[in-house]
Amino acid sequence: MRGLNSILELSVEELDQLIATAKDIIAHPENYWDKCAHKKLATLFFEPSTRTRLSFEAAMLELGGSVLGFSEASSSSASKGESVTDTAKIVSCYADIIAMRHPKEGAPYVAAQAASIPVINAGDGGHNHPTQTLADLLTISRELGRLHDLTIGLCGDLKYGRTVHSLIEAMSRYPGVKFVLISPKELKIPGFVRYNVLEPHHIPYKEVASLEDAIGELDVLYMTRIQRERFDDPWEYERLKDTYVLNTEKMKLAKDAMCVLHPLPRVNEISVKVDADPRAAYFRQALNGKYMRMALILKLLEEAKADPKPVALDSSELEYDRICRNPKCISQVEQELPQLFRCTDKEADIHRCVYCDQRG
Ligand code: NCD
Repeated sequence: MRGLNSILELSVEELDQLIATAKDIIAHPENYWDKCAHKKLATLFFEPSTRTRLSFEAAMLELGGSVLGFSEASSSSASKGESVTDTAKIVSCYADIIAMRHPKEGAPYVAAQAASIPVINAGDGGHNHPTQTLADLLTISRELGRLHDLTIGLCGDLKYGRTVHSLIEAMSRYPGVKFVLISPKELKIPGFVRYNVLEPHHIPYKEVASLEDAIGELDVLYMTRIQRERFDDPWEYERLKDTYVLNTEKMKLAKDAMCVLHPLPRVNEISVKVDADPRAAYFRQALNGKYMRMALILKLLEEAKADPKPVALDSSELEYDRICRNPKCISQVEQELPQLFRCTDKEADIHRCVYCDQRG
């Protein structure tokens, strides 16, 4: 039995299979109406969400299952001090699968270690968001007909934007993919994406500051919101929040076949006038998220039925003698969690926290 914490846990074959299932669901929804009859999805959302939570719930309902859960930490026992570990154990008594969103990085990973049912990471702090990536992959596949040989521009908050991290991890495994990383210098992609994914796999990428200069060469433009809630300094957010605005003028510089994605919500980084452009795919992308979550729920429940044993933590190369200094890591809040690190680069002597991927 396994869940989904990082998109890297799915092979390219599995990603392609999920996309194929989602396309089959779109073509023949009636074949899936009772696939999850009598199964329950628990949505444990400790952070705000519209699309992710509702599309998970709609996905389970369209598979004939039911949903239970909460949409804010204040209505769960977390507000009384209950740990993520205990919450996961309790919810395992009531549901068959969990989708969890949490502001602390690594929280769904901790839940997965404690739960006896699959746990899906529905967004953990500024770290990962693998099911948004599933929505993104289906969208690119449906809009452009391929996932290989693409120049993908990611624009905005590449530091705290968890959707960006998971999308780079996924797309780096398709041949012929190049990235153009468009951000102010303060919001460049974090080290765990650069040094675990881009550099070791020799993925071509460049970092630029101007959207106008880059837009003409892109097949996909992935816009993101500046993540206000992740900034320690509110003035820094104020200074950076309007760095990029995609408008109809800039769209004139783009290829006819480019598509614009955005995980949403948008604040003002895409002018509403762009919505009428046929290349604006972000509302279709939100719908695709429901189909991919249906495909994922089906896959994980089938796997759990075939092999209900929890996946044991691979303890072979774990290191216990370091301390994570990321204040946003779950191990900083839940003091009873062991500090766990893994060496990710022997030559450069780099060790990363297993919960949040920060260097130790
Ligand atoms: C994203 C998220 O929560 O990370 N939204 C989503 O899940 N569709 C992006 C964001 O909040 O900016």
